[in-house]
Amino acid sequence: MALPTTSAITLNINGEKHSLPVDHRTTLLDALRERLDLTGTKKGCDQGQCGACTVLMDGRRAVSCLQLAVAAEGREITTIEGVADGDTLHPVQQAFIDLDGYQCGYCTPGQICSALGVIEEHAAGWPSAVTADVRPEAGPPPLTAEEISERMSGNLCRCGAYASIVRAVARAAGVETDGAHTATEDKETAA
Ligand code: FES
Ligand code: FES
Repeated sequence: MALPTTSAITLNINGEKHSLPVDHRTTLLDALRERLDLTGTKKGCDQGQCGACTVLMDGRRAVSCLQLAVAAEGREITTIEGVADGDTLHPVQQAFIDLDGYQCGYCTPGQICSALGVIEEHAAGWPSAVTADVRPEAGPPPLTAEEISERMSGNLCRCGAYASIVRAVARAAGVETDGAHTATEDKETAA
């Protein structure tokens, strides 16, 4: 007897339950965009390299193109459509607008979801690759431009809005930065 290739699943997205049958190969990204019409989450590379499809799963960042929809059942998923509080933008969204943290806007939903994760991860004391003192007792490092750009380096911006993105994340996190060039910008310049 052939094994089933589809399953009926229920996804919890932005506080609402969505029940749908899916082919087992369907990614969370395609389920969001093609099946549930939640097109705020963008498809860039579709292979985990650009960050355009970033969502939050149980509050942690995840690239939805590398997640199977069937494996997302039971998780709390937040997409860009669920970030604002009604008509009131989230402070991260407002900072991106106020500080021009985008140009074409294609990468922006992923950048904002990633920024939400960054702020939470930093507050929880997670170090990054550029954190000098990673001892737990050292506590969270200062959220410098270097820290922010490293922590956001999984999100590419083909418009090169990196300096503004870093400033926007810093403002949303309540810190100031010097607006220096970012790690991702430097990597792309060197490539
Ligand atoms: S579309 Fe998922 S990382 Fe690029
Ligand atoms: S604003 Fe255009 S890709 Fe980032």
